[in-house]
Amino acid sequence: MSSSASVRAEAARVLASVVQGRSLDTALRIDPKLTAQQRGLLRTLCFDSVRWYIRLDALLERLLSRPGGKLHPDVRALAIVGLCQLLYTEIPTHAAVAETVNAARALGHPRAAGLINALLRRTLREQASLADQIDRDLTVRTAHPQWFVQQLATDWPDLHRQILDANNERPPFWVRVNRRRIAGARYRQQLEQAGHRIIASLFDDESLCLEQAMDVSELPGFGDGLVSVQDGAAQLAGRLLHPKAGERILDACCAPGGKTGHLLELQPELAELVAVDSSVERLARVEENLRRLELHAKVIAADAGEPTAWWDGVAFEKILLDVPCSATGVIRRHPDIKLLRRPQDIQALAVRQAHLLRASWSMLAPAGRLVYASCSALRAETTDVVAAFLATTADARDTTPEAFQALGFEPAAGIGRRIPAGWGKMDGFYYACLERRR
Ligand SMILES: C[S@@+](CC[C@H](N)C(=O)[O-])C[C@H]1O[C@@H](n2cnc3c(N)ncnc32)[C@H](O)[C@@H]1O
Repeated sequence: MSSSASVRAEAARVLASVVQGRSLDTALRIDPKLTAQQRGLLRTLCFDSVRWYIRLDALLERLLSRPGGKLHPDVRALAIVGLCQLLYTEIPTHAAVAETVNAARALGHPRAAGLINALLRRTLREQASLADQIDRDLTVRTAHPQWFVQQLATDWPDLHRQILDANNERPPFWVRVNRRRIAGARYRQQLEQAGHRIIASLFDDESLCLEQAMDVSELPGFGDGLVSVQDGAAQLAGRLLHPKAGERILDACCAPGGKTGHLLELQPELAELVAVDSSVERLARVEENLRRLELHAKVIAADAGEPTAWWDGVAFEKILLDVPCSATGVIRRHPDIKLLRRPQDIQALAVRQAHLLRASWSMLAPAGRLVYASCSALRAETTDVVAAFLATTADARDTTPEAFQALGFEPAAGIGRRIPAGWGKMDGFYYACLERRR
């Protein structure tokens, strides 16, 4: 059995596992014995077949003589991995077909080889007419679940089609330069000299967007803490909070610590940064990140929504509340969200977010600033949570337009600010900068 067939068989197992409800992160375990090329192929096949699953599954239904017929889940997944190669990769078609057919044997389904071969060859012959038939439906054409497309159309009447398309792009690779260790412009030079193309930049090159993703081990100075990987939109959090010398800051939902590290890089003279998260497992990654960056925070495993259990009663001048959310703004990075998220999750998350916001506000000093951050694309978890909070909190004021203007962005209307996926090459995000009246 060729190793490329085994890679395709493994991609099919991973896809079948995601379809059954596992996250891509947990389902995709890369065997260290694979070559770099095989690892790249496996990742591409897994991510792209999950990303396009809804469309490819509709196509498969068209191709099968008995729609919805009983295919073993692994065979179904392999057929989709095969279709994905033909439609969304540069892999030569003869190799895609032959290796996917061989993969049926590697998966332990030798009798499915003929069916896979026939499905793939028919797709090659009839691609245009098959696409015409399935793409009339926006949810199929853009490979998103119907409930999400409907909600997005309500929440973003003018931009939802653009956001759906942006969600299907392979994401660019943003890095954050550690200004405590090296100037942005110098780090940019190092990247360019190493042959990397930079396609966007913010804040004097401290925030750089590269065309091509890479393994962190290839990033100059990564191990020495010169740089971190973080999307441009996520890098706005620290700057909007604008940490100043002598302040005591709470990072209320901190893990894995991307924004914790940024806050400490931006301001070396904080009185203290308290970093709280309820997940002990994820807090281990905060510690690991801080160690690499040689930075220090007071890390606490606790429920930020129940401060009486851990808070010392001394108010914080600034609070970053990066709430747990549906992550529907970062679908391009986590395409499994399309398959795993359910409409009923959204309301439950909104209730948790409102509770966390109220509890965090109780720890904020007069004249203090709280930044509410969320990587959800939906109003229910963003604007609606903040609007309801403002309506019932007399001492809260929305200062988001001024905070964005201070960073050089044009002000935008609305409560907080919604960033659509793909805008300025960034992930979809939401920020509300709230200040407490004296
Ligand atoms: C969006 S992530 C935070 C990302 C992080 N700020 C960063 O930049 O790396 C949300 C985090 O909230 C944590 N979380 C969820 N409920 C929580 C709670 N009640 N108290 C504290 N943390 C909570 C989750 O464990 C998760 O790590």
